[in-house]
Amino acid sequence: MTNELKFPAGFVWGAATSAYQIEGAWNEDGKSESVWDRFTHTPGKIEDASNGDVACDHYHRWRDDIALMKSLGLQAYRFSLAWPRVLPAGVGKVNQAGLDFYSRLVDGLLAAGITPYATLYHWDLPYKLYEAGGWPTRTTAEAFVEYTDVVSRALGDRVKNWITHNEPWCTSFLSYEKGEHAPGHKDDWHGAIEAAHHVLLSHGWAVPVIRRNSPGAQAGIAFNINPAYPASPSDADAKAARNYDGYFNRWFFDPVFGKGYPQDKMAEYTANGFLPKDGLTFVQPGDLEAIAVATDFVGINYYNRAIMRDAGASDNLPPTENQRDEMTAMNWEVYPEGLYDTLMRVHTDYAPRQIYITENGASYSDGPNANGVVADERRTSYLHRHLAAAHRAIQNGVPLAGYFAWSLMDNFEWAKGYAQRFGLVWVDFETQQRIVKDSGKWYAQVIARNGLG
Ligand code: FCB
Repeated sequence: MTNELKFPAGFVWGAATSAYQIEGAWNEDGKSESVWDRFTHTPGKIEDASNGDVACDHYHRWRDDIALMKSLGLQAYRFSLAWPRVLPAGVGKVNQAGLDFYSRLVDGLLAAGITPYATLYHWDLPYKLYEAGGWPTRTTAEAFVEYTDVVSRALGDRVKNWITHNEPWCTSFLSYEKGEHAPGHKDDWHGAIEAAHHVLLSHGWAVPVIRRNSPGAQAGIAFNINPAYPASPSDADAKAARNYDGYFNRWFFDPVFGKGYPQDKMAEYTANGFLPKDGLTFVQPGDLEAIAVATDFVGINYYNRAIMRDAGASDNLPPTENQRDEMTAMNWEVYPEGLYDTLMRVHTDYAPRQIYITENGASYSDGPNANGVVADERRTSYLHRHLAAAHRAIQNGVPLAGYFAWSLMDNFEWAKGYAQRFGLVWVDFETQQRIVKDSGKWYAQVIARNGLG
């Protein structure tokens, strides 16, 4: 008897990164400024006052990084393209040098036997498009289609797996309502809701373009999903959890899977004045049909859960139901059961053809010891428990096609700067030395045996 958990044959094992977090070379070879360049160069926005100017210098070290991936036995690599490298003005003239970088990267991956999964948008909007209105305006969705066309024409013969957007909630609410991500608008609910719509619309418009330019391609979108649990068994907390789920999850999943925007949230946003004065006039005839385009998979980025409490309910029960104990360095709870629940829920409620876990991982600061070993048992434990949860979901019928650890290597963690390390590979940001962490070695074994020992 063995307790080994085998994954299905053909299960895809990968790791993920994004352009701004690793590339550096922020103004080289014709690349223009992005909203993230501007944001990080504005004092006070990033916790450690750092930026992605150099990051992991991957733009220059990509060959070594592919060798690193190969040494881990990665079967797939999820990366994103920097739109301002490819189309510096957002539309119009193509910067061939920028496109060539990605073309070489793809060739290098394929030569190493690693399947590329390309994300078109992981947040680095060309600044010029922001100046023209950014995601709250419809022209940005139109520009995204042009960008998708340029990229998928150039790479579509070799890249067969495409993710239109990474985490639309971040592009919209985190960037316009919470103000934590570029361009850093706060409390702009109209902007957030319009941005969300145009991101989803651009996804819907881009998928047919990808299919046209990349025969046989698989296309989808990656959502960050944050399952919400009530803090107590009270009705008030159940309602708070349902509300949060509408805000964070259903607002995106529902339209993409043909259900339109959730009615409960529409009513709430109308009552609160969060919808623009004249309602959803920016939603034009045909938009919801476009957004509901058939996809080949949905990507799920899972890190943690939300525990919801209605603080205003005077007769509420004590918050005993769901409590946090184990936390990562991000102060995010470790809750593998939430991944299981999420996979089951997405499968049951939305029935995508396939699901990928496009991101999952944990930040811990462990660095090299005196022997140069990075003994990050907590990360290994996090990954192990989440993979076991994913395995259980597969046993229960979820069509999970693959798993991408976040992240291949430590990198620029957005508003947190370099203080948060999510990598399977440790990076010394002074010298650019890379060291495979113990979790990376462990993951290599998981891949080699297609399962958990
Ligand atoms: C996700 C992002 C990714 C990374 C992880 C920790 O929200 O997609 O770029 O920052 O969180």
